[in-house]
Amino acid sequence: MSEGAQKKTEKPRKFQAIRGTRDLLPPDTALWNRVEQTAHEVFTTYGYGEIRPPIFESTELFARGVGGDTDIVSKEMYTFVDRSEKLEPDPSIGSMNVFFQKIRELYKSGEIPTDEQDEAALKIAEDQWEMVNDLLDGRLKSESAGTEIYKLVLFYDALRLGTRISLRPEATASVCRAYIEHNMQQLPQPVKLYYMGPMFRRERPQKGRYRQFYQIGAEILGGPDAPAIDAELIEMLMTFFDKCGLAGTELSINSIGHAADNCRRGYVAKLREELIKVKDKLGADSQRRIETNPLRVLDSKLEHEQPIIATLPRIADHLCDGCKAHYAAVKRDLDLRGVAYRENWRLVRGLDYYMRTTFEITAQGLGSQNAVCGGGRYDGLVELLGGPPTKGIGFAIGEDRLILSLQEGGKAPAAQGPDVFIAWMGQNAYATAIRAAKTLRNAGFRVELPAIELKFGKALERASKLGSRFALILGDNELQSGEWTLKNLATSEQQKLSEQALLEYLQKL
Ligand code: HAM
Repeated sequence: MSEGAQKKTEKPRKFQAIRGTRDLLPPDTALWNRVEQTAHEVFTTYGYGEIRPPIFESTELFARGVGGDTDIVSKEMYTFVDRSEKLEPDPSIGSMNVFFQKIRELYKSGEIPTDEQDEAALKIAEDQWEMVNDLLDGRLKSESAGTEIYKLVLFYDALRLGTRISLRPEATASVCRAYIEHNMQQLPQPVKLYYMGPMFRRERPQKGRYRQFYQIGAEILGGPDAPAIDAELIEMLMTFFDKCGLAGTELSINSIGHAADNCRRGYVAKLREELIKVKDKLGADSQRRIETNPLRVLDSKLEHEQPIIATLPRIADHLCDGCKAHYAAVKRDLDLRGVAYRENWRLVRGLDYYMRTTFEITAQGLGSQNAVCGGGRYDGLVELLGGPPTKGIGFAIGEDRLILSLQEGGKAPAAQGPDVFIAWMGQNAYATAIRAAKTLRNAGFRVELPAIELKFGKALERASKLGSRFALILGDNELQSGEWTLKNLATSEQQKLSEQALLEYLQKL
């Protein structure tokens, strides 16, 4: 069979969105837009400006910023190697010599970032190449020349021939990178930024949990670490939820101290000590975390671990005087602002950069994935990423979950049909219909102008199906008299109006 004939008989493959991703469609997108518009408005009134960082960044940024041992970085990132454009994508055996020479040059010039692992891998690949060369030139004899060539391909494939890049799993590290890159410490401090857009984490998809999900976040960088900054940020967040009409929100707060000796480190050591005593009763994840990050054991949702966790030492009893005073002042300031909160000593959060204040907000109708927002203070992060010592605090709202909760609470706006459906009949009427559509749309009305002529009955049927409020009927009679017919589709009432009177009538409604 010819290639063309085969193509014809093959059933075209049906494509579907990748697992954990989805299409956001009308009418739902109207709610997304409303929520995002509310964020723009509310955050602007608090003096924030919008930042739009790129969707991918160097993997190293997230490894350092979020923490190499966190689930997000160690298991969930979408990472790829962005191969240097100066390298041939697939060198043939014949061009292998030149290829290796080129890699050496690119490593030397810094075009390809290198590390010990790459150096070692390159050495292995080059040695293998030498062996294959000897085989090919007959200096060496072996039955397994094919295998050795195959090994060579594997070895050079393992080389990291470019920059490692990850789709962003969150945006705080990016915002800090941008703050440093654009010398924002020279602007009046603090710098208040917000963002919205997709994030990517390779988690197990379920209701409220996606692999591409959307966050609306805000960060305050620079300036003092005054408790009023924490409190105002949280107040803004609650105002935003309120303006969105989100029901049943619960704000939990905690302080996890700071990294110095007598504060969090002392507490973590004590916690680890206690956890070792009960290790056998804990699940595998918690057992592993005793070593890697004992604080995360407090996050556990496992039923049988709950009574054990309840008896563990609490961080509030181990905070240093500075952290204790800061936490007390944040709570006082929230009271002053009338922001209701619940203290939750187990709220430690899953990212490494937090210190002192942490908070989370849950909402109704979300099942097990009910955290609609998380945030906290991260005073050391900018410095960790190579910037000057800088205070920082922020939050990110899970927009998908916010939308789900609003929909479950019946807060989704109803789908809107057109205001006016223009039922035109005859080519003469068509020109007038185009003009009428333009005028009405300029005045802000939603107008549906059918692309092909419809019989009168069909046109009205289509207008009702679309949920249009009015049908504007334009036929020979209307054109001759200059009086257009406007039919209210809910009441079936009809009236005759001139072009100008029609606009005025609709605008008065
Ligand atoms: P996070 O707690 O990892 O914090 O994420 C914030 C929110 O994003 C979560 O509360 C949740 O609503 C939403 N979210 C996270 N993962 C998913 C997912 N797979 N599917 C749907 N929604 C999800 C951060 O990302 C920090 N950067 C927040 C922050 C900003 N802290 C300081 N500044």
